[in-house]
Amino acid sequence: MQEALSPAKATLLAVHFAAISDIDSFRQHCAEYSSILGQELLLRIILTHLPETLDPSTYTPLLQELQDGGLKTLPGGKNHEIDSSSIDSLSEQQALRKVRKLGLLDLAWPDAPTQGHNDPLTLFLFHRAYIIDRDTGLINIIPDLLLPFAKHCDAITTWLLTTILPLSRRNFEYHPGTGSPLSISVFEQLSDPAAVQYLLSEISQDNNIPGSVGRDLRGLLGPWFNNPARWSGVGDAAKAPGWAYFLQWLTTQASRSWTVAVQAIEEYNGPADIDQGPVTTAPPQNSQFDHLLKSYLRAALASAYSIQESSLDGLLGTWQILRRVQGLLDTGELASLEVEAEALPVMSGLGVILSKKNRNAGDLRSNLLDESNEITSPNPAACTMLRGLTLSVFILKNLGALYSVRTIGEMVLLQDAQEQRSEFLKVVRLLSNNAPRDDDAYWARARTGILWLHSWGASSPNGNQGIGPFGMVARHDIDMEMLKAMLANNRFSLARTIYEDATELPLSADHIEEAVLSSAFHAFDNASNPNRTRGGLKKCDDITMAFPRTLPPTNARIMRMRALITATHGLSSYRLVLKQGEPFTPVVLRVHSDPISIIEKVLEQNLAAYTRVGEFVEISKNLVIAGLLTGSKMSKQEDDASTQEAATSIAEKRIVAMCIEAALHEDDFETAYSYVISRLGGPASTEQDPSIRPVDDHWSWTSALKAGQYVRTQRSLPPTHLGTSSGNPEIRHLEQRLECLATALRIAPASQLLEILKTFRRCEEQLDSAIAEEAAKEDAWDAVGDVRNAPGSFDQPDPDRMYPPRNITASASARQAEEAPMSLFDLSRATARIASKNFTSLSGLHSGGALSPATSAEPSGALDQARVRKRDQLRDAATGTLVSGVGWLIGANVTRPANSDETS
Ligand SMILES: *[C@@H]1O[C@H](CO)[C@@H](O)[C@H](O)[C@H]1NC(C)=O
Ligand SMILES: *[C@@H]1O[C@H](CO)[C@@H](O)[C@H](O)[C@H]1NC(C)=O
Ligand SMILES: *[C@@H]1O[C@H](CO)[C@@H](O)[C@H](O)[C@H]1NC(C)=O
Ligand SMILES: *[C@@H]1O[C@H](CO)[C@@H](O)[C@H](O)[C@H]1NC(C)=O
Ligand SMILES: *[C@@H]1O[C@H](CO)[C@@H](O)[C@H](O)[C@H]1NC(C)=O
Repeated sequence: MQEALSPAKATLLAVHFAAISDIDSFRQHCAEYSSILGQELLLRIILTHLPETLDPSTYTPLLQELQDGGLKTLPGGKNHEIDSSSIDSLSEQQALRKVRKLGLLDLAWPDAPTQGHNDPLTLFLFHRAYIIDRDTGLINIIPDLLLPFAKHCDAITTWLLTTILPLSRRNFEYHPGTGSPLSISVFEQLSDPAAVQYLLSEISQDNNIPGSVGRDLRGLLGPWFNNPARWSGVGDAAKAPGWAYFLQWLTTQASRSWTVAVQAIEEYNGPADIDQGPVTTAPPQNSQFDHLLKSYLRAALASAYSIQESSLDGLLGTWQILRRVQGLLDTGELASLEVEAEALPVMSGLGVILSKKNRNAGDLRSNLLDESNEITSPNPAACTMLRGLTLSVFILKNLGALYSVRTIGEMVLLQDAQEQRSEFLKVVRLLSNNAPRDDDAYWARARTGILWLHSWGASSPNGNQGIGPFGMVARHDIDMEMLKAMLANNRFSLARTIYEDATELPLSADHIEEAVLSSAFHAFDNASNPNRTRGGLKKCDDITMAFPRTLPPTNARIMRMRALITATHGLSSYRLVLKQGEPFTPVVLRVHSDPISIIEKVLEQNLAAYTRVGEFVEISKNLVIAGLLTGSKMSKQEDDASTQEAATSIAEKRIVAMCIEAALHEDDFETAYSYVISRLGGPASTEQDPSIRPVDDHWSWTSALKAGQYVRTQRSLPPTHLGTSSGNPEIRHLEQRLECLATALRIAPASQLLEILKTFRRCEEQLDSAIAEEAAKEDAWDAVGDVRNAPGSFDQPDPDRMYPPRNITASASARQAEEAPMSLFDLSRATARIASKNFTSLSGLHSGGALSPATSAEPSGALDQARVRKRDQLRDAATGTLVSGVGWLIGANVTRPANSDETS
């Protein structure tokens, strides 16, 4: 045991032990000199000289002891050798000088945040903490300094809990080594919002492991908020700047990095969720926790509406938020989104929200945190609203349509029928495009989903109107569009199951008819190939047969549709390119202002197609049934029978005329001729008065005229068989031309007759000379064996003495005329007979006497038919035809050409 030290030396030794962190020696020394080294002096020595990096736990017991009444010599302390060498050599004078220069810090300092607790220990602890932070930045060791004295005074506890703990956790425990951590004093000077921002600044999308966001909110914000200072001076706690900033932060996260928001809401239970760590002395206290929780839940709902993410995950996040809010509100468990989407529950109790629709639609986007905003009110109605919207978005997403919760919310609230309808149609298009092949289940589910989007499961008093996002689209419209989509996707049997076989039919027969026809037209118009066994036309065909009971083949509109298909198919075997090199598609036929002209194109582009005149006429008949030629164009209304008949007749005439002209164009006169004879006004129909001839048929007589004008060339196709006419091809040809011209005369309007007659006469002259030439040859031939000198006798050849070595001749053909069913002679006799009945009226033609072969005025007397002079006979024929054709004209108005022709 050494002799007692002077107060100066004792002080210096204590300072020495403090400076070298020798706590044991310090303690023992100070205990021995407790009478000299009082509490305040020791605290100042420690504050000034004990290294700040030293773990506070090594000296807090000492502080405690000092506080509890001074240091006591420990029982084992005696064994501790005090090393006083550092002061031994000092004289007392030196010691005193040194003590004066110690510069011990005062415990107190201006503006110490001790809230009036200015006892030495409190002052020391605050001061020490600041210095540790200032000189070392080791905020993390400060709790160890303060914690043992939490009970000592509220100021320490509050400070530890609401400032030191959050700061220490943020900078050292939760996010060590990040950024440039703030010192205590700088942090304390921040405004509340800035402080919250600082505490949350290390939370980000990139580094949040599960649980970390909740940990931060609970461990940083929770303690920080548990300070009356944060709530003072504001009437409404929810408007306290720090808290308001936090709520804003939450919704901002939702729109920028939604995963953080979802995680926050999932992991943080609100204002009462505080992790005080080791500070158990101050239980969380806030009289406004309930009120704050409401504001927190409002912010959670606001976050749900703020999520911009359109992925499934984003939507699941929204759902997660909703589940949390419902859980915290204690308004019932929510199943998973998938399960709910299967169940399609009823959304009820939305009255309040739906009643103020216009205002609330704005509330979807702005003022989400306002207490007046009903969309985000923490109550069951707002939850149901969000639930309905989220489910809607999910269902739509599964159908391939991406929407945000907000957009759907606006549709629900604004109830803009037009917008809902256009979105609905868009969705049907998308779900159609997204449909897996041949998956009836998908379609059935899609339909139930869409119907739920109409009603949200609630039955509405106004039958056709629902509260869902498609609530303004009439239910039958929804079903009609779904039906169309099903048909377009070949879901025929499913469609029948729902719309024809079910006990409760969602659509009336009229609606089904409307939908089916519309689908059929759509498929038709979309078809690229006119073959009814392929592609779009096959689909169209199938659609017309989709509802055999509701729409049997006898249904008028179905019948017309099928006629259109048949007509289109009729064109499928031909090459057909329209102008601009576009290949023909069925829709062209349907919308063409003159569908028959398409047949004309077929004739132009397909060699010898004119031989299939029957097919084309058939096509035109179907076009008439389909309403394409009568101007009714597939409208609902049917054409009456007479309209149809007239259209059919005109179409047939046009087509025959086209075929005749096509045949002539391809130098197939024989075919053209046969069409003229067999299809353009045969004998039976020759008596029509031109005044009642169809005024608009200019095709028939024009084509007959063209045939009559046809001049044989090298390129002309030879007759496929000789037929029964003249063996002289030239004569035969002229005869045929005359027949064609005669036909033209019969059917042409009065204004055209003069022109045709001129042609007729020229042709007749050609025939005359051809016959004369032929006869001369025959005579020359005859002269060899059988001389007949009598004048005119060459006009009476003996039919039994035909020219054996030669093939059939002009005279032979004349003889055989009677057997030719459609020959010139048949025609001429029949017409001549008819003309003779009107004999008296034909005064201008009288002289010729050629009008009636049976009563010929020829001096040579009654010759039998076969012996009629060939030339006269031909003339008779022509004239007879002519007379019957223009008899009316002669009777009413004897014209020069007819007259001169007859009397020449
Ligand atoms: C329209 O035609 C295209 C190709 O020709 C086809 O892929 C599509 O499915 C058709 N759409 C409808 C509705 O028939
Ligand atoms: C229509 O298509 C079917 C099947 O591809 C084919 O067998 C048939 O010959 C086609 N018909 C016509 C007229 O092209
Ligand atoms: C005329 O008939 C004979 C056989 O009777 C035949 O060989 C010849 O080709 C025919 N002439 C013409 C131009 O048809
Ligand atoms: C020709 O006779 C028919 C019936 O025989 C008659 O209807 C017609 O009016 C007559 N024509 C003339 C020009 O007399
Ligand atoms: C007869 O023909 C003349 C001249 O072609 C014409 O002016 C007159 O109107 C015609 N008469 C009748 C009754 O058609």
